[in-house]
Amino acid sequence: MIKLAPSILAADFSRLGEEVAACEAAGADYIHVDVMDGRFVPQITVGPLIVEALRSRTRLPLDVHLMIEEPERHIQAFGQAGADILTVHQEASSLLHRLIERIKGLGLRAGVSINPMTPVASVEEVLPYIDLLLLMTVDPGYGAQTFILSMLEKIKKARSLLDEKGFSCELEVDGGINNETAPQVVAAGATVLVAGTAVFGEGREIGAAIEALRAFVS
Ligand code: DX5
Ligand code: ZN
Repeated sequence: MIKLAPSILAADFSRLGEEVAACEAAGADYIHVDVMDGRFVPQITVGPLIVEALRSRTRLPLDVHLMIEEPERHIQAFGQAGADILTVHQEASSLLHRLIERIKGLGLRAGVSINPMTPVASVEEVLPYIDLLLLMTVDPGYGAQTFILSMLEKIKKARSLLDEKGFSCELEVDGGINNETAPQVVAAGATVLVAGTAVFGEGREIGAAIEALRAFVS
């Protein structure tokens, strides 16, 4: 079963609790939280305080995507705030093994992400240790960007590598996922789909948007 992870980056932050409750009611699987530090990516978004606030409003796993430099300095705070999955960027850490062990030591699921132009081969060694591999399908930093089409081949490559080695970690994709790209990434082998604009974008009704995405991938 394909999992849907609405990204709150595109939500109405003045009504975050209600928006997340609507996602849960519509059958979302995770709540994806985009943490940006103004260094790894240009924008600054949210920190552990918002994760803690969300924790009190939903039973869904909080899938926290750390687009930050020196993630090792913050993982404990995100763990204490109630994150379930902590994903760090390969490009932001040269000590990934230690970092993953620390995330798991906090009792959390560990994810590693790579940017569109970072090759799948760069995370080959990490695969035995992680619960989730996140392939960015746009350059991280902003919502509502266009899916980079060549990422379909990259998803297939990651899928083959995981299958060939027998690793069962989730394969998540993030950026430009909508009713058109969702079936394509699923056909390529993705198992978790992050969607911001497609769920919370202007004029969209959250429940209907999630149902539509679900229909396109099942
Ligand atoms: C981008 C973030 C994404 C973003 C996706 O850097 O990691 O999670 O919210 O937004 P959409 O679905 O609008 O491309
Ligand atoms: Zn994200």
